[in-house]
Amino acid sequence: MLVQTLYTSQAQMPMADAGNGHILLEALAYNPHHGLTGFLFRSRNHFLQFLEGTEHDVKEVMARITLDPRHEQILAWPLVPTSARLFGDWTMGFAGGVAEPEVLLIRSLPRTVETLATLRPKLREMAAPYFSDPVNAH
Ligand SMILES: Cc1cc2nc3c(=O)[nH]c(=O)nc-3n(C[C@H](O)[C@H](O)[C@H](O)COP(=O)(O)O)c2cc1C
Repeated sequence: MLVQTLYTSQAQMPMADAGNGHILLEALAYNPHHGLTGFLFRSRNHFLQFLEGTEHDVKEVMARITLDPRHEQILAWPLVPTSARLFGDWTMGFAGGVAEPEVLLIRSLPRTVETLATLRPKLREMAAPYFSDPVNAH
C-alpha cells in the first residue's frame, strides 16, 4: 500500500550548516533504493519533510529519522493511504530557504488526514520553484 506522511521538526544546526547537505546526501543515497520520494524543506529553525512510499518503507525510514539528533520536537502526521505520488519525480527534493512563518503555520495545524489532503497542493506550490534546479531534478 502506498502511503504519504509529513512532519515538521526543530533543526539543531544553523541554516547555513553543511550538515543540511549531509542529510540530503543520505536521503539521496537511501531513498531511491527503497522507492521513497518526497521533499525536504529547511527554514531558519525548522525542517518540514514530505515522504511517500510503501507503508513498510515509510515506517522504516521514519523510525530512523525520528531517532536522528540533528532535529527535535518532531510533529508527524499519521500515514495516509494514497493512490498517486505527489513527488513521484523526486527522490528527495530540497529547498533550503523556506520562509519561517510558512513552516510555523503548517506546524500549528491539526495533524489529521484532512489537513494533509488540504496541504498537498500547497506543498507542491512551495516546491515548484525548485523543480527546475538540475541538482534536484531526476
Ligand atoms: C530532517 C531530516 C530528514 C532526513 N531525511 C532522510 C531521508 O529522507 N532518507 C534517509 O535515508 N535519511 C534521512 N535522514 C537521515 C536519517 O535520519 C539517518 O541519519 C540516515 O538515514 C542514516 O541512518 P543510519 O545511521 O541508521 O544508517 C534525515 C535526517 C534528518 C535530520
